[in-house]
Amino acid sequence: MLEKGKLYVGTSRNPDDSINKGEYLDLKYANRHGLITGATGTGKTVTLQILAESFSNAGVPVFCADVKGDLSGIAMIGEDKDFLEKRAKTIGLDPYEFQEFPVIFWDLFGEKGHRVRTTISEMGPLLLARLMDMSDAQEGVLNIAFKLADENGLPLLDLKDLRSLLGYMAGETEKLSAMYGNITKQSLATIQRGLLVLEQQGAENFFGEPALKIADIMRTTNDGRGAISVLAADKLMMNPRLYGTFLLWLLSELFEELPEVGDSDKPRLVFFFDEAHLLFDEAPKILIDRVEQVVRLIRSKGVGVYFVTQNPLDVPETVLSQLGNRIQHALRAYTPREQKAVKVAAETFRPNPAFDCFEAITQLGVGEALVSTLGAKGVPSMVERTLVRPPSSRLGPITEPERVKVMAVSPVAGQYDTDLDRDSAFEMLQRRAEEAAKAEEEERSREEKKAEKPPESRRWTLPGYGDDGASGSRRTTKSRSRPGYQRQTVTEAVIKSVARSAATSLGRALVRGILGSLKKGF
Ligand SMILES: Nc1ncnc2c1ncn2[C@@H]1O[C@H](COP(=O)(O)OP(=O)(O)OP(=O)(O)O)[C@@H](O)[C@H]1O
Ligand SMILES: [Mg+2]
Repeated sequence: MLEKGKLYVGTSRNPDDSINKGEYLDLKYANRHGLITGATGTGKTVTLQILAESFSNAGVPVFCADVKGDLSGIAMIGEDKDFLEKRAKTIGLDPYEFQEFPVIFWDLFGEKGHRVRTTISEMGPLLLARLMDMSDAQEGVLNIAFKLADENGLPLLDLKDLRSLLGYMAGETEKLSAMYGNITKQSLATIQRGLLVLEQQGAENFFGEPALKIADIMRTTNDGRGAISVLAADKLMMNPRLYGTFLLWLLSELFEELPEVGDSDKPRLVFFFDEAHLLFDEAPKILIDRVEQVVRLIRSKGVGVYFVTQNPLDVPETVLSQLGNRIQHALRAYTPREQKAVKVAAETFRPNPAFDCFEAITQLGVGEALVSTLGAKGVPSMVERTLVRPPSSRLGPITEPERVKVMAVSPVAGQYDTDLDRDSAFEMLQRRAEEAAKAEEEERSREEKKAEKPPESRRWTLPGYGDDGASGSRRTTKSRSRPGYQRQTVTEAVIKSVARSAATSLGRALVRGILGSLKKGF
């Protein structure tokens, strides 16, 4: 069933249920993105699984999220099951062979996979604002914070770095407002509270170092198969915003980091975006525009993005129109909204005179789908009713002991497992502030000693008012501890000196890309 340069998806059937032909996804057009849709339990995850398998065998690395834990079995060899054998027989898949795949498990919480982290600096203000559901005013302030840090080459690695920077800004609102535009203490305080909430939700696990290296999800095995990176997302789904923002960040990293490749015979990486509606739910227009732009441009970097969701209406029209390879599982059509969704789904296909698309979508069986892929010159194939092939790897979850074994032999074993606290904004600010405070303390004690120095004979005492030397030193202390004043200038000096040293080592300010993550190679 294998044709060179093509992935076997399944076999289509004629209206009388007789076998029609094999349906394939052309590797050459696999970077023109795709869409897998269908109601619950109709076979989306299995379709994702067989596509991931085929890409891996073709030497294309894959990144996907395992939302319900049922994709993890892809790391294990498949097992003989009656219904799978039956499907194989129906579609003429002979021999039906089982296989295990090279899987790297990842997990933001570091429990069911290698830890995935990024830094606040790399995530950037746009995605962070989205993660924290900020108002425009707060986002404006956050942008200034990043500008300040970027311009001065101040690395913001984790949440405490951002907190210390915001703390500094709170003491300098007037000055900074004059330089960058309005900054209110109120917005700063709201952002600080938002950071606390993020922390409580476990996001602090995710921000820090060592940050994920893109090269690690683009690995291939020695025998030429693409690694399948599986992100454990069951726990992550409890915080849908973190899930959506993380995947967007990854997409944005890929986009910024990978060079242009132009047309090639297969993609460099395929990225499956499960539960894709979470990306777009209540997303501001600007974010949708940027996502659209990244999806459009990432094609030429050899990355194929496949959205998986229940309903094609979940994906904004501008993005939808760029998804060339379509696999539509069954949808219900009881309510008017459902009917509308089926209609939209039906209309996106190049029609097949043999059957009515609308009707077919509502009648498809489990593991059956309408399939249309891009063929020669990128023209979509006529839609076909297709029985999707059964997987070669295990259908269903992996056990925990099995997962531990897979992780132990993973090529990144040990690389991401311990936190690294590199010097960053927080430490720099804190250390310099401590040094400054110490210097100040030394100077004060020197002065106090000097003040106490004059010989007894030269000191005057006014009855009832104490020693003037002592009052002098009290005055010094008092003037030095004028509320906030001294401390903030110290912090400011710290920022400046940090800026100088960092700027000289970095050479120039950090540059941000379309989705606000850092541009590399600048
Ligand atoms: N291609 C297939 N071959 C054989 N069985 C299949 C196939 N696709 C789906 N099935 C059967 O249907 C079940 C449900 O499929 P799947 O888990 O992919 O649905 P889903 O659309 O992802 O559902 P949900 O929205 O709940 O995640 C599978 O466990 C399997 O038993
Ligand atoms: Mg599923």
